[in-house]
Amino acid sequence: MRVTVSVAMTTSIIFLVLCVSLQYFCITTLASQATCAPPPAIECKSNACDVFNYQGVWDDRGICKAQNSAWPTSEAELVQAVANAVKNKQRIKVVSKLSHSEPKLVCVGSEGLIISTQNYASVIEVNKTAMTIRVQAGALMSDVLEAAAKEGLALNAMIYWSGVSAAGVISTGAHDSGLVGKGSGVYEYVVAMRLVVPASPSQGYAKVISLTEADEELNAARLSLGTLGAISELTFALQPMYKRSISTVVKDDTDLEYEAESFLRAHEFADINWIPSHGKAVYIPIDRHPVNVPGDGLNSIIGSASSVVDIERKAADYEAIQDRADVEAICSVLINETLDLAINGSGFLNDGKRFTGYPVIGFNHHMQTSGGCQAGRYSVACTPTSILDKNETVCSWDRRIYATLYFGVELRVPVSRLPQVIKDVKRIRDLNPQKLCDMSGIFMRSIKKSDAYLGPKEDVVTLVMMNYRSRAVGTPKWNEDVYEEIEQMIIEKHGGVLHWGKSGGYLFQGLAKRATNLEKFMEVKKKFDSSGLFSNEWTDGLFGIGGGSLEIFRDGCALDKVCKCREDSHCAPQKGYFCKPGKVWKKARVCTKLN
Ligand SMILES: Cc1cc2nc3c(=O)[nH]c(=O)nc-3n(C[C@H](O)[C@H](O)[C@H](O)COP(=O)(O)OP(=O)(O)OC[C@H]3O[C@@H](n4cnc5c(N)ncnc54)[C@H](O)[C@@H]3O)c2cc1C
Ligand SMILES: *[C@@H]1O[C@H](CO)[C@@H](O)[C@H](O)[C@H]1NC(C)=O
Ligand SMILES: *[C@@H]1O[C@H](CO)[C@@H](O)[C@H](O)[C@H]1NC(C)=O
Ligand SMILES: *[C@@H]1O[C@H](CO)[C@@H](O)[C@H](O)[C@H]1NC(C)=O
Ligand SMILES: *[C@@H]1O[C@H](CO)[C@@H](O)[C@H](O)[C@H]1NC(C)=O
Repeated sequence: MRVTVSVAMTTSIIFLVLCVSLQYFCITTLASQATCAPPPAIECKSNACDVFNYQGVWDDRGICKAQNSAWPTSEAELVQAVANAVKNKQRIKVVSKLSHSEPKLVCVGSEGLIISTQNYASVIEVNKTAMTIRVQAGALMSDVLEAAAKEGLALNAMIYWSGVSAAGVISTGAHDSGLVGKGSGVYEYVVAMRLVVPASPSQGYAKVISLTEADEELNAARLSLGTLGAISELTFALQPMYKRSISTVVKDDTDLEYEAESFLRAHEFADINWIPSHGKAVYIPIDRHPVNVPGDGLNSIIGSASSVVDIERKAADYEAIQDRADVEAICSVLINETLDLAINGSGFLNDGKRFTGYPVIGFNHHMQTSGGCQAGRYSVACTPTSILDKNETVCSWDRRIYATLYFGVELRVPVSRLPQVIKDVKRIRDLNPQKLCDMSGIFMRSIKKSDAYLGPKEDVVTLVMMNYRSRAVGTPKWNEDVYEEIEQMIIEKHGGVLHWGKSGGYLFQGLAKRATNLEKFMEVKKKFDSSGLFSNEWTDGLFGIGGGSLEIFRDGCALDKVCKCREDSHCAPQKGYFCKPGKVWKKARVCTKLN
């Protein structure tokens, strides 16, 4: 049986139709109708385009230009767009509607073509017999999961935020948590793909390659950082719908290094939120249940809309306490928010409306991810460049407003190294625990080793740190040094790597070699895109092509993570921050405040 959902239909109609006919949808809120949609990633004027990411600030604070843009709606149009660019020897990059990656993966340069998949999202087709879903590259994952659920099917892995596109979410190796079966990488569930690659003039400059699990090249194409060609369609393997339960247990972190691995293995989708500043760890068991287990829970942690006035007030308050390094206040925000989630369930709703206690149990697609604000309206008041009314509601990171800026750093370490990593982070912590107070603790999830060539070579645990970034250029964080030291220590001492789509700057240098098989990836890249038209400086630097470096030395470079400081000017000497060795990992060079 086939079901095609036209996403072009308005969200409200879909909700109403689904709500009367389907048990799975009725708890989803209708509030998004009043929300201003996030602005598209691409803005073009006459002969030039700017490409933005969701926060409006690229990893290096630079700009991202393109000469022209294409907005295909069909595979024929996508092929045509690629062919035109190949014919003109233009570089090509594809970006999703909302562009969530922080490094400059989608920057193509002022002579290149940027292709948007914003309007390439209308095919979402479930094959109930095969238990698969075939989607166009730009399909938003929130729509993909709902279409699958409508047929009683579930995607086993998804990231915490549902506003990403199908091609975008696999292309950076994004993931959930878990080591069972194929594990938590969304890319592990891709069973087929159609990819548009450059071709010879006699072939019309572009051709479509169709890949299935029988083709070894799928191991390159399902996690490619967009460097092999333009993904047209993806088919994901699904499972019968199931439910997830989530709970929390708050403990002292004394035994964390001995308990973390067994805990992460004991629950299929387990997370741990470690708050080293307070010596606490929130263990989060997440397990699978049959659909007949009662529960209609909803995860609404990320991506509900808030009013501009609330978001800007919160950002200004937080910026103020960061600027004056009000340690007590920063630490209290962190622990209050952590405990609010751990104890009061903030963000988890047992019946879709209120939290009445853990465990919260609900259908997989309602529990594995959250969102809402991506489905807003477009109107005159909500155009990409309009000055939004303060009462409008938007995503909390909307780039048109003054929202809190942050580095989303995700370090990954082999599971076997985790105890040592935790011990080392504790040594840094013990010198001054409050310095580890920031926007988040250290959020741990697991990912299984992968056959995808740019995936993890071994089972890994991810350590996610959301830490504050000043909007003002050249402004250090008061606790700059400890975060820099932890990052350098984990990468240099413990063989750590980073999430390809999150923050990291120069830290990415050389990490592609630590993936499953960079050489095989490069062979496929050469075969599909021999002239490297789908590459840019950033991806060349990542793959070590042409001897380019990802490190940029300039005043204050270490503050933006574009360099490891070598001299004081790379920090902010005029503000009292100097380039010094780490205190525990002595090979680290970090911007340290001297009083
Ligand atoms: C709020 C939030 C929460 C997040 N949570 C998680 C999480 O829980 N787990 C996690 O792992 N990550 C998480 N991320 C990171 C995020 O999943 C990745 O950055 C993801 O890749 C973004 O997808 P996108 O659709 O925005 O793609 P984009 O940022 O637009 O693109 C990502 C890459 O895919 C390529 N690409 C996109 N479309 C195509 C195409 N059609 N053909 C070829 N290449 C293409 C681009 O060129 C680029 O290289 C989160 C990000 C945010 C903002
Ligand atoms: C669905 O999958 C089955 C089994 O693989 C296949 O025989 C059938 O042709 C598919 N249907 C469609 C419409 O693709
Ligand atoms: C955190 O909670 C404590 C105790 O409930 C409260 O006194 C304090 O004001 C809270 N801090 C913030 C920043 O909300
Ligand atoms: C939980 O919620 C109650 C009632 O709103 C509040 O008083 C309490 O401070 C909250 N506890 C935490 C840990 O946030
Ligand atoms: C915004 O909302 C507030 C409180 O509801 C109201 O007083 C104010 O008039 C609104 N402003 C606008 C511009 O609608």
